[in-house]
Amino acid sequence: MVSNLTIVEHPLVQHKLTLMRKEETASSEFRRLLKEISMLLAYEITRNLPQKKITIQTPLEQMEASTLKGKKLALISILRAGNGLLEGVLELIPSARVGYVGLYRDEDSLKPVEYYFKVPDDLDNRFVIVLDPMLATGNSAAYAVERLKVAGANNLTFVCLVAAPEGVKVMSHEHPDVPIYTAALDEKLNEIGYILPGLGDAGDRLFGTK
Ligand code: URA
Repeated sequence: MVSNLTIVEHPLVQHKLTLMRKEETASSEFRRLLKEISMLLAYEITRNLPQKKITIQTPLEQMEASTLKGKKLALISILRAGNGLLEGVLELIPSARVGYVGLYRDEDSLKPVEYYFKVPDDLDNRFVIVLDPMLATGNSAAYAVERLKVAGANNLTFVCLVAAPEGVKVMSHEHPDVPIYTAALDEKLNEIGYILPGLGDAGDRLFGTK
């Protein structure tokens, strides 16, 4: 398997993902599950955040206790489905700065087209977590990461819920420096770029469109 890919196999993540995949799962439930999974993914992604010791006073005595060494994170949501992952991660890391990259997929070429880009201006100082539930062709993810690198980001991690081998390959080839976290690596893409078995269109399922 590709070295920069981490599949989060925690039983809670897998259980919730299975519920999300089911066709009959309603949008309200889908949203709630995605938020819960995103918190569990955030727990994994932030496992190696730098820490420092500070002196604190408990009700009983003084101690040297661990705390985060700076809280310089930026969460970048790839619109619109990225917002479903953003909610949970932001709840866990409320001090993170937030940015948005608006991309849509040209249905013929499957290539990303940018319509919005607004990110914190000090990305070079931040641990940047890019969020998009579905890593399908990898074209949008690779585009967004490239755009963020041009804007100064140099410490990026990509987080999704379901990845296709095709997307992982594109990302690993174009951005070998960017670790990918996912809850599942599915089988393949279909002829119109949807992940199989997947969970359908994440944006539509999240927001009840279509
Ligand atoms: N985007 C989605 O929402 N679902 C897929 O399967 C692929 C891309």
